Amino acid sequence: MNTTDAWIRERTGIVKRHIAADDETTLDLAEAAARQALDAAGLQSNDIDLIVVATTTPDCVFPSVACLLQQRLGVTNSSPAFDVQAVCAGFAYALSVADNFIRAGSSTTALVIGAETFSRILNWEDRNTCVLFGDGAGAVILEASNEPGVLSTHLHADGRYAELLHVPNGVSRGYDVVQQQEAFVQMRGNEVFRMAVRKLQEVVVETLAVNNLDKSEIDWLVPHQANIRIIAATAKKLDMGMEKVVVTVHDHGNTSAASIPLALDTAVRDGRIKRGEKLLLEGFGGGFTWGSALIQY
Ligand code: ACO
Repeated sequence: MNTTDAWIRERTGIVKRHIAADDETTLDLAEAAARQALDAAGLQSNDIDLIVVATTTPDCVFPSVACLLQQRLGVTNSSPAFDVQAVCAGFAYALSVADNFIRAGSSTTALVIGAETFSRILNWEDRNTCVLFGDGAGAVILEASNEPGVLSTHLHADGRYAELLHVPNGVSRGYDVVQQQEAFVQMRGNEVFRMAVRKLQEVVVETLAVNNLDKSEIDWLVPHQANIRIIAATAKKLDMGMEKVVVTVHDHGNTSAASIPLALDTAVRDGRIKRGEKLLLEGFGGGFTWGSALIQY
């Protein structure tokens, strides 16, 4: 392929990424992340009364990854389980949905997962996309509590830009009549880049305003990991030094809905993020979709 390691590092910040084994699926990655989250929270499977999986690369058309996962984990309490599809903003969407279920009193303990095998929808001959994405999964558990946790979430979409970043193929359009490359990610990277920077800056301002917070009160930015230059632009808007930004794009590439929980997990486990700190999560993806969550960890 006509690309270089230097180009990829310089333009994206990606040094390595992970690709699922041939016999591994999104469900396998989701299950591994879910089991680690249950262990970390000291919970049993049947304590979970809601599963929301953010994914654009489910194992099959149906059942959802969330339903398949419910069975894998041995959750037998008949609680709801479903997928949310908002591409790289998927985790912000799933977190917001679960938070609202808990706020409404419909659920008490939610398992929220971002899981992707994006490698399966890449055209490995398209240098504009195939160097960017990786596979992975991350999970969090939300529990109803009187203590502050998810302080607010903010979701947006603008379908007018669908064709700047999409996989044109689909179930209803018919797989057999479309050209092969339409089964894969197509992106006008430059235009997506400009829009991502603008919309992420707007959602950061919106999140601070709604919570009546000054930017100096945010302890950690945990952004979607698409491109180090997009991340740096958002940090600049917050007057935040890069030492306060959780960056994993060099290790994971863009794992779409999995990138925020993977970054969060990395910084919690290595001790950077501590209890009580304020985290700003944000993501932008195909649709366009974008969103944020302000969390007191
Ligand atoms: N290797 C070498 N050259 C390349 C490669 C590559 N892998 N890919 C593109 N180029 C070339 C282009 O063809 C172009 O060449 P030209 O000037 O001769 O036409 C040149 O590099 C510059 O291309 P740009 O697209 O302007 O490069 P840019 O600096 O914008 O970086 C990138 C491209 C990394 C894709 C960037 O635009 C980006 O990160 N975009 C946003 C991605 C994103 O955030 N997506 C949203 C989430 S993903 C989701 O929701 C699924």
